[in-house]
Amino acid sequence: MDAALYGPGGFYVRPGGPGPAGHFRTSVHASALYAGAVARLLRWVDAELGHPQGLDLVDMGAGRGELLAGVLAALEPETAARVRPYAVERAERPVGLDPRIRWVGAPPEGATGLLFANEWLDNVPLEIAEDGRYVLVAPDGTESPGGPLDGADRAWLERWWPGGGAQTGRAEIGRARDEAWAGAVASLERGLAVAVDYGHTRDARPPYGTLTGFRAGREVPPVPDGGCDVTAHVALDSCAGPGAVLLTQREALSGLGVSGSRPALALASADPVAYVRALASAGEAAELTARGGLGDFLWLCQPVGIRAAWPGAAAG
Ligand SMILES: C[S@@+](CC[C@H](N)C(=O)[O-])C[C@H]1O[C@@H](n2cnc3c(N)ncnc32)[C@H](O)[C@@H]1O
Repeated sequence: MDAALYGPGGFYVRPGGPGPAGHFRTSVHASALYAGAVARLLRWVDAELGHPQGLDLVDMGAGRGELLAGVLAALEPETAARVRPYAVERAERPVGLDPRIRWVGAPPEGATGLLFANEWLDNVPLEIAEDGRYVLVAPDGTESPGGPLDGADRAWLERWWPGGGAQTGRAEIGRARDEAWAGAVASLERGLAVAVDYGHTRDARPPYGTLTGFRAGREVPPVPDGGCDVTAHVALDSCAGPGAVLLTQREALSGLGVSGSRPALALASADPVAYVRALASAGEAAELTARGGLGDFLWLCQPVGIRAAWPGAAAG
């Protein structure tokens, strides 16, 4: 998975490729309402931090920098002027990107602000277990049994996957994601770290796993040859550190003012243009919060040195 996504010629790092947006639709691509909601969350973090001189906004796995550009556009100029936007990416900086955006290979150490990771962790390579052994995968996607699990991976399964993965024999070991997330959170000196992803929790692990491929908007077999995305859902509860909260995207976006309710019909005659605009916006909000779709994504919100993990949440 690591070589197929990030090695030479890998899916995410091949120069000149269309980027993630050419292969699948994340919440970032679905609507500018998403960047607007992240801007609202950033304002809350800013207030919690007492409006520091430099407010870091770190986008982990930034794709082509679309979310950062959207957040900068949504902020009022006085706040935007204090924001230090970082795109953390393994791909090259896209041509023509807003020069304010710093393109880096790792999150800046000691950041103060908001670290946001939309659909990053599902692309952090992970081990898969079957019947107590690692699953080996050939470049054509053929699977075969590997060696027995090491102690740390066995311990992770015992703690986080009911029955240690014994029911169907297959399980996805989230340890690499836990470690990647802990590393990203540790880069924050103060602020909030948020990971948003297709997730599952201990009470509802997927019995047969979730390993999937995507190419050009379609689900394809997860063949690790560099020709498709290879992804697996994230055990976000095992990533959570002290004081973290886990929300559905529906709950999170509703708390940040994104609503899918239709505009009042009276607006149609009073101001037809505003009505059409409000209708389009409600449609986009509905996509971002849909059951069985993006609305089921999980938001893991991890406070670092601030009072709460979420606007309105009691101090933990
Ligand atoms: C599914 S895309 C999501 C892009 C964007 N966040 C969005 O939501 O549209 C995942 C991105 O994470 C990047 N990525 C994965 N691991 C990374 C790492 N360790 N450091 C920086 N970027 C990484 C990949 O190159 C890819 O562009």
